[in-house]
Amino acid sequence: MIFHQIRTPNGCQSYLLGCRSSCAAIIVDPELSLMARYQALAVQEGLVLRYLLDTHTHADHFSATHEMARKSGLPVIMHRRSPAPFADMRVDDGEMLIVGELRLSIMHTPGHTADSMCILVNDRILTGDTLLIGGTGRTDLPSGDPDQLYDSLFNGILNLDPALLVFPGHIYADRTHTTLGEELASNPRLQKKERSDFVDQMRRLDLRMPTHLTEALRTNMSGGKTVAQMLAEAANKVSFMSMEEVQRRITSGEHDIVLLDVRERDAYAQAHIPGAVFLPRGQLELRVNDVLSDPTQRVVVYCEVGKISTLAAATLKDLGFGRAVALDGGIAGWKEHGYPTESSPSA
Ligand SMILES: [Fe+2]
Repeated sequence: MIFHQIRTPNGCQSYLLGCRSSCAAIIVDPELSLMARYQALAVQEGLVLRYLLDTHTHADHFSATHEMARKSGLPVIMHRRSPAPFADMRVDDGEMLIVGELRLSIMHTPGHTADSMCILVNDRILTGDTLLIGGTGRTDLPSGDPDQLYDSLFNGILNLDPALLVFPGHIYADRTHTTLGEELASNPRLQKKERSDFVDQMRRLDLRMPTHLTEALRTNMSGGKTVAQMLAEAANKVSFMSMEEVQRRITSGEHDIVLLDVRERDAYAQAHIPGAVFLPRGQLELRVNDVLSDPTQRVVVYCEVGKISTLAAATLKDLGFGRAVALDGGIAGWKEHGYPTESSPSA
């Protein structure tokens, strides 16, 4: 078996499992920012990806399964209980995935989430967030249940061969894996072997909510886009103009650009780039015909920091303003550079 553990900067673990003889491969728990890396790794190993799998609905990072599936047509595998509408293959306890000559056994292990599962393959088990090194997945996020986690551990995976290598979904320490036996012996959470003690311990954990909790759940449960994806897609549609170039054009008296301020009225009135026209992002489509009469005009869109302007410039492109570009940065940076602004209280 070809086996790679890929670590994201925040400790999430993804796994690439490949069959040496058939070259078929599966990716487990891919993360959105590492999509190119998984593909490069598969190519480097001479593997062809066949499946994408999420061990559960992640609340702390952006899963890449949906986006990779959209680009490649590969099927996404999740547990039957997963809320994600984009899962192509919904599996359940006792089933098996065949990847070339590899046999991946599915164990449903609810507790961290209702759709959590562990994957048993050869001498190892991928435990997702059910069992971690020196810890367990938390049970206080949506669909978590400490009672179920107790069953999944003590009446489930902990009864397997203690020599099994454990590769979890998160690693907070400087290690790559552990064994079931080692965790049974030394994992502090597993020392509470009575159900009520274990459940009490889980309920008393006072853990910080993960960064991006809402957005990660929204996108992982629905297949919708992250804000970063929306901005990246908009940025792929437009080119940019630097502040220096805009300033040069203003001072040289070249009148070949229309500066379009897409912030709110108060912000525009207080300070805008000299000569800028005002059309807030919220009214862009409905008022564009009143404000920009010539679709061949070269429009330079700006906002406060440079994000809304990128979206707005992409919208203008869709509307037929083929020469719409976005300012590289926003008026906040423009002011920091000491470039001039003007105000118009009556705007
Ligand atoms: Fe998780």
